[in-house]
Amino acid sequence: MKKREQFSGNLTVILAMAGSAIGLGNIWRFPYIVGEYGGAAFIIVYFLACIFIALPIFFAETVIGRRGGMDTFGSMKRLAPGSSWYKVGLLTVISPIIILSYYSVVGGWSIHYLLKSFGVAFGQETGHFGEFISSVEAPLLAHTVFIALVAAVVLAGVKKGIEKFTKITMPILFVLILVTVVYSLTLPGAGRGVDYLVKPDFSKLSGEALMAAVGQAFFSLSLGVGTVLTYASYMRKKDNIFLSGVGTAGFDLLFALMAGFAVMPAVFAAGLSPSSGPGVVFETLPFIFGKMGSDAAWITICVSGVFFLAVLMAALTSAISMLEVGVAYLVEEKHIKRSRSVLYLVLFAWAVGLLCSLSFGPLSGVHILGDTIFDFLDKLCSNWLMPFGGLLFTIFVGWKMPSADVLDEFSNGGDKPLNVRIYPVVRILIRYIAPIGIVLIFLNSIL
Ligand code: PHE
Repeated sequence: MKKREQFSGNLTVILAMAGSAIGLGNIWRFPYIVGEYGGAAFIIVYFLACIFIALPIFFAETVIGRRGGMDTFGSMKRLAPGSSWYKVGLLTVISPIIILSYYSVVGGWSIHYLLKSFGVAFGQETGHFGEFISSVEAPLLAHTVFIALVAAVVLAGVKKGIEKFTKITMPILFVLILVTVVYSLTLPGAGRGVDYLVKPDFSKLSGEALMAAVGQAFFSLSLGVGTVLTYASYMRKKDNIFLSGVGTAGFDLLFALMAGFAVMPAVFAAGLSPSSGPGVVFETLPFIFGKMGSDAAWITICVSGVFFLAVLMAALTSAISMLEVGVAYLVEEKHIKRSRSVLYLVLFAWAVGLLCSLSFGPLSGVHILGDTIFDFLDKLCSNWLMPFGGLLFTIFVGWKMPSADVLDEFSNGGDKPLNVRIYPVVRILIRYIAPIGIVLIFLNSIL
């Protein structure tokens, strides 16, 4: 059998995993919900949700992935031969492809706005955000270009594609967001946006805020859909699982906070109120960048261009990780060539994405359980499939795998003394705290 590809080292693993984690979830979702649920008070709760619920799931997925050394399906089969656990692997092959389909639609919007920043019309010129997303050709064209870019990177393979791409884009992404933060903070009236993010308002910390924090941590760290598992299967045996988890979560939080300081001061400086969803990023910011700050038009163009390039890069590295899960499955379990696997999955995601894109326009009347196609798939994945996958991974590692095996993997056979020392705590988190937390989210969704 052909030798499996591997990431080159600890740093590469963290960059690739952070590339998956840092995405649209950080840039438009985080700033909005922080304000909604009490600013700094929510950030504290979010931080706790990351440590007590998200990180244990992250560790569970990494342990399965690296020990199994295969795609989601194959890894579970290897670790629990003769059981039905491999079916969990199958679930996680389906969910990331569904996420990819609607995520690519939003990714396409970022391409549109990037070009628009430079005065280039992509497809037919449309005015407002609402008008743009409800039109047919322009968003579809953008969606197609986005998904083609994702396919190109995954096609090139783990090392030459994913690793190389994330190694180049992640540092650039950092600089781009930093530039936007600096610009935003210098706008007159930016202070109120900063207040919105940092003033702790503990009165807003309801049970709902707690659920929102856990849900955000799930989506933001790409948990429960096998992306972490698949990337972990490309980790070398000597790399450090604990370090990769803490590094990824740390970068993810850093980028979320930076995105908050890039978006909110600008929104407040323009005298607008933050509203939910992608509207803030796609509708408000071009308006602000067009109106505020220096009169020199080139600054506006540059900052707007820089910002949307950042959104695009963040979205691409996340989408790549979604596609890789299914590709690894088809290559390793079905023995389909990488190129064909990419083609099949991308065609499927493109077609479903087409329906999602049209659900803002001609298909807006089509409802599934009361939601448009886009919203239905988003809710299905974020509220159900991701937590469900996460729950199964923690139960598998906490209750099915022998504890000695988990410790062996987590500490590289005892080679990492710190990991050995913290393992008892991690074990309690994986066995009890994280699963109970997830069950609570389910109860909250049902009630
Ligand atoms: N974590 C990504 C984001 O914040 C989304 C994602 C979900 C990526 C699931 C991979 C898998 O945008």
